[in-house]
Amino acid sequence: MAEDRFSALVLTEADGTVAGEIKELSEADLPEGDVTVRVEYSGVNYKDGLILNGLGRLVRDYPHVPGIDFAGTVAQSHHARYAPGDKVVLTGWRVGEIHWGGLAGKARVRGDWLVPLPKRLDARQAMAVGTAGFTAMLCVLALEDHGVAPGSGKIVVTGAAGGVGSVAIAILGKLGYEVAAVTGRAETHDYLRSLGATEIVAREALSEPSGKPMESAVWGGAIDTVGGATLSRLIGQMAYGAPIAACGNAGGIKIETNVLPFILRGVKLLGIDSVMQPYEERLRAWERIGHDLPMDRLESMIEEIGLEEAMAAGAKVLKGQVRGRTVVKLS
Ligand SMILES: NC(=O)c1ccc[n+]([C@@H]2O[C@H](COP(=O)([O-])OP(=O)(O)OC[C@H]3O[C@@H](n4cnc5c(N)ncnc54)[C@H](OP(=O)(O)O)[C@@H]3O)[C@@H](O)[C@H]2O)c1
Repeated sequence: MAEDRFSALVLTEADGTVAGEIKELSEADLPEGDVTVRVEYSGVNYKDGLILNGLGRLVRDYPHVPGIDFAGTVAQSHHARYAPGDKVVLTGWRVGEIHWGGLAGKARVRGDWLVPLPKRLDARQAMAVGTAGFTAMLCVLALEDHGVAPGSGKIVVTGAAGGVGSVAIAILGKLGYEVAAVTGRAETHDYLRSLGATEIVAREALSEPSGKPMESAVWGGAIDTVGGATLSRLIGQMAYGAPIAACGNAGGIKIETNVLPFILRGVKLLGIDSVMQPYEERLRAWERIGHDLPMDRLESMIEEIGLEEAMAAGAKVLKGQVRGRTVVKLS
């Protein structure tokens, strides 16, 4: 393949149905931007699953190159922070949604959206972290910023065997927390313990309303990737003053709650968004990922696939069948 040509997963839409095909593109096909990156790895996140299946109205224009995150090497740059050869990582900014994304050999983006690859990570590890792991770190930071520390009590993580949940457990385990992992998959119990979970909670234990405004206070903090009935139950189970970092909706968007946990126990519900995080917060989170995420545990979460398998991986992630993180090797 000529130097400026590369393979890309291209989505097209006809009669409301989205299809994906691997095509050969050239740099001239890429959208505007001041940095062109040779993509080494991308990832398959929950949001990628939605996009690859044409759901959620996240993509406005077709043909479209998906991939909400990527890591690689700068090929060309007109941005002051980057020069050819620099290693970079990108998550968020609606790349892969309204901008072309990382499921391609090359991507062109605004340099302001990039973050230098943390020194302790290579491109594959950075995408094993990816949007999911970056979000997990943001959740941990939010809990810490609201006074949570090892010894504050058990931290509950929902959607535990998924991408955000797996990375959150590995980080919390390394930091010395007691971690309760909420999962619907019995076959993941050993995996979750190997990541650092000290207790396993069945998904069903939290999936129905309790019928009470508050329950026994058991959690010193929570990272919730599921939303819906699960988050509704957690709010009533938090210890005095304890925060919940709410980042996901894998189980639904509607919550039913009441004010008593907030006004009698001072429970704090913290919304976490990874997409529009400012640069300084991104640096802070990636620095902590390099420091606090055990690389051997990260390795145990990875399934590596090729570009031709990305569509199938997108279907799997929506069915809740992915364990840990799926990375896509580009070059
Ligand atoms: N706020 C942000 O910026 C941000 C960033 C990244 C992700 N997210 C969101 O966070 C969530 C998790 O993302 P992810 O990449 O970790 O996805 P994922 O790998 O698919 O994991 C989601 C996990 O949720 C659990 N789950 C799935 N369906 C469920 C249901 N109906 N009821 C209860 N639990 C269910 C499963 O865990 P078990 O098999 O262990 O039960 C599944 O593995 C998604 O909603 C995603 O959109 C938000």
